Amino acid sequence: MSESDSDHDRAAELRAQVAAHNEAYHGRDRPSVPDSTYDELLRELKEIETRRPDLVTVDSPTLAVGATPNELFSAVEHRVPMMSLDNAMDFGELSAWHDRTIKSLGETETHAFVCELKFDGLAVSVRYENGDLAQAATRGNGRTGEDVTLNVKTIKDIPHRIENAPTVLEVRGEVYLPISRFEELNNEQLEKGDAPYANPRNTAAGSLRQKDPSVTASRKLAFWSYQLGEVVGGPKMESSEQTFDLLERLGLPVNPELQQFSDFAEVRQFCEAWMANRHSPDYEIDGVVIKIADLAQREILGSTSRAPRWAIAFKFPPEEKTTRLTTIKVSIGRTGRATPFAVLEPVFVGGSTVGMATLHNEDQVSAKDVRPGDTVIVRKAGDVIPEVVGPVRADRPAASTPWEFPKVCPSCGESLERSQGDANTYCVNRRCPARIETGISHFASRNALDIEGLGERTVRLLVEKGLVEDVGDLFALTKQQLLEVLVSDSSNETLVRNLLTAINQARECPLANLLIGLGVEHLGPSTAELLARRFGDIDTISLAAVDDIAAIDGIGPVIAKSVTNFFADDHHRAVVEKLRINGVRLDLVEGEVDVPQILAGRSIVVTGSLEGWFITREEAKQAIVARGGKSPGSVSKNTYALVVGAEAGETKLNKASDLGVPILGEPEFRQLLETGQVL
Ligand code: IVH
Repeated sequence: MSESDSDHDRAAELRAQVAAHNEAYHGRDRPSVPDSTYDELLRELKEIETRRPDLVTVDSPTLAVGATPNELFSAVEHRVPMMSLDNAMDFGELSAWHDRTIKSLGETETHAFVCELKFDGLAVSVRYENGDLAQAATRGNGRTGEDVTLNVKTIKDIPHRIENAPTVLEVRGEVYLPISRFEELNNEQLEKGDAPYANPRNTAAGSLRQKDPSVTASRKLAFWSYQLGEVVGGPKMESSEQTFDLLERLGLPVNPELQQFSDFAEVRQFCEAWMANRHSPDYEIDGVVIKIADLAQREILGSTSRAPRWAIAFKFPPEEKTTRLTTIKVSIGRTGRATPFAVLEPVFVGGSTVGMATLHNEDQVSAKDVRPGDTVIVRKAGDVIPEVVGPVRADRPAASTPWEFPKVCPSCGESLERSQGDANTYCVNRRCPARIETGISHFASRNALDIEGLGERTVRLLVEKGLVEDVGDLFALTKQQLLEVLVSDSSNETLVRNLLTAINQARECPLANLLIGLGVEHLGPSTAELLARRFGDIDTISLAAVDDIAAIDGIGPVIAKSVTNFFADDHHRAVVEKLRINGVRLDLVEGEVDVPQILAGRSIVVTGSLEGWFITREEAKQAIVARGGKSPGSVSKNTYALVVGAEAGETKLNKASDLGVPILGEPEFRQLLETGQVL
């Protein structure tokens, strides 16, 4: 592949990944990767687009901010766009921003910088008309946000009325959940036996985007204002100082920690001081925002389509702490991958308590040389996945020996295998209980089929009793079987009824969710959706060639290969058959399907047994129909081709040769489905 092609493919893949993470973060308030990974992807995409401007697409996430709004709330157009901020990941990048900015403004001018804390909440615009709070909206994609007026009105910090206000005044700022309140809420969750919330930011976002404002009110959110949006009829603002004075005078909360400096060395000191004290406030901060203080200078600098040039976010590096690694265990995932993980003495890092951290694979453990009993450095990048950076060698116990990867699976006891050239080790036993359990839990999870009531405990019991060997079996479970399995529970009648209803509803799941649930590697929500739309049903996907899949804009060769590998596996095909037999829809696509109708108007007859082919006879017919063709039972002069399997009837064969109808075997039929032509 030439370099330019690989740039094109990589950019498309990155765009799809960033879009999927945006959707997880902004649309569902659940980050799917640490912030640092997201930043990395975005940077790589920007790097390619800077080098190759011809590859920039209008929908590139480098040009956009956040996610498209959610349909639960009505849309609000921002009259003044709500922009994002560019990041500086270290002091080198910060000083590069400074030099660029000063150069654009003219070095002889005076420059003042206002330094504010970067609150880790969510941006909101609150609009006052003639002093009354008229509307409040989330940032959304920067141009259109969600109307959250009723919910914002429950936030005590935000006045419903401001006196002596301009005709229109949009106040922008950050809605956040104080850490003390987050801890209280989590204690309440634990008392109720519910799972604790992940972190204050996501809880704040989830709380603001509630259908019922009384739920928002109960969470007790707070607000810091830091900017103005549309202003009509107000006093002319010349500086950041004047803006904050106005906000304060109107009764809006302004963070007391902000400071203005003209010497850039002091800006750096401010960042360093807050980096060291990042946990001292009762709200989460993930950096410092540095803005040019003079508003006329901001005008001169202007903005890119995504972010202003007059401001930069200095992001704090991931936080690190030390703790003792008590032991290393191995967990078995649904593909059988054996992932080593560290069991740690619980340590508070990056805003939450960490007791476990992944070690990825055998090579990572050797490279880091972490051993049971070591004191290790733990890092939490973003708020999601904790990581062991490495051991503190000076503190290593004298008797320590390197950790060895186990030879057998901790769940089923079969031997673990690692092939040459592969960093991962696998349990290859398809009947391994841990594999089955994680596969089913994944299938039932929110991103996939969302089967409520199928918790880990129930899954374990169903697997232990041998009632479920793969996800296809879920749809054959009877009330009696479930009642017997869940014997220990007093309320099991209701539980079972609810679970059966949830399983039944899952029969009508969208194809994209099904693909995710089945666990096709590398497939995320947006790429699964692209596949579903392009091919329309699971049979057509399972027949598609790598090149056809990779031809979809947004899907690269890695995903394409993973899809074909998945469906080449007999076990996976058998599971799909079981789902079909048990009444699960395999062709539900929201929106338009765009399978190219390459067989439109053509009549293709299939005869004989296709046993051992890449496709069953029923699937062959469906694939023809999905491409716009017909598959009647007999040959006529209108037949375009006859597909012939083993033990085919003489009549059809003879008739086809008399009429000159092409006779196709397996490879020719495959080509026909791919190209629409008999070659
Ligand atoms: S100013 C045009 N100031 O960071 C600039 N943003 O990464 C608009 N944020 O969308 C933002 N603290 O949600 C600004 N002191 C602060 C901030 C702040 C947190 C958030 C805000 C913004 C995001 C960009």
